[in-house]
Amino acid sequence: VESICKVVTDSVSSKLQPYFQNLPVMAKIDAVAGIDYRLVAPPTATSEYLDGHLKGEFFSLAHHIPPPFAPSALEVPADHDRMVYMGLSEYFFNTAGLVYYKAGALKLTLTDETIPKNSTIRLTTRFFGTFLPQVAEMFPNMNMQIVISVSTPPHLSMQSSGLALTPYLEAETFAILPNSSLASLFLLGLSTNASVELGTMSSRLVGELKLDRLLLELKHSNIGPFPVAPLQAIMDYVVPTLVLPRVNQRLQKGFPLPMPSHVQLYNLMLRSHPGFLLFGADV
Ligand SMILES: *[C@@H]1O[C@H](CO)[C@@H](O)[C@H](O)[C@H]1NC(C)=O
Ligand SMILES: *[C@@H]1O[C@H](CO)[C@@H](O)[C@H](O)[C@H]1NC(C)=O
Ligand SMILES: *[C@@H]1O[C@H](CO)[C@@H](O)[C@H](O)[C@H]1NC(C)=O
Repeated sequence: VESICKVVTDSVSSKLQPYFQNLPVMAKIDAVAGIDYRLVAPPTATSEYLDGHLKGEFFSLAHHIPPPFAPSALEVPADHDRMVYMGLSEYFFNTAGLVYYKAGALKLTLTDETIPKNSTIRLTTRFFGTFLPQVAEMFPNMNMQIVISVSTPPHLSMQSSGLALTPYLEAETFAILPNSSLASLFLLGLSTNASVELGTMSSRLVGELKLDRLLLELKHSNIGPFPVAPLQAIMDYVVPTLVLPRVNQRLQKGFPLPMPSHVQLYNLMLRSHPGFLLFGADV
């Protein structure tokens, strides 16, 4: 037993302490955001483990302001299958949503050129005129533009089934006039239930967004009132085939987890719990 204790004590001082000492405190992610992983309290050691409290907060590289919500207490279960565990709370994901939302990064502009050639759906006033005749009459033979954006900061909740959110989107639709200026036609509201399947890829957290059915609502119209039902087929095509792949391309690039550079992690595992995601690995 004594020799086992010595091995454990040596491992803690030779492996876990350097793990904390070499943690990156700020990880720059892209042109918009970084992650603050600094320790918020000195690590505490028990006879069985070393416990560190890291911040885990996305921040804007342009304006580093604290988010208007606070993290809830995180109770990481005592699990022993792996050498290192990390709990990522909802706060981590919600600061990500807020930072990208505020930077205006959750926005996509679609034009007829972005629609595959073989699609029957076109972003032209001629095509829209087949079910909204006033569009073709007021703006004959013009291309159109749709700007799809997230209208409120996305609220993400961690459930045992995974990360869930109810994004509220807006689709502002324009006719492109011959002199290239835009005439706003109408503004649609779109809501949906969504989930993000999370995984790890070489010490990065990656995700895949899945959307449920889209609910449409006419929020504003400059071409008079009309029923939104005919637009359902367009949005059911545009969002999964054009918007979702772009979002997932970004989520597949992933976000760095706090890993010291020279420590190799293996046997990675992820488990969703209500309120937080548990990440475990061997060192
Ligand atoms: C259009 O072409 C793409 C490949 O370029 C193909 O994946 C898709 O199935 C085609 N769609 C139709 C409706 O033919
Ligand atoms: C473009 O044309 C529209 C309609 O003819 C006009 O109202 C608008 O002022 C023009 N914009 C510019 C930038 O010339
Ligand atoms: C999302 O799910 C909730 C609960 O199942 C449901 O009440 C709501 O209508 C759904 N929203 C959309 C936009 O589908």
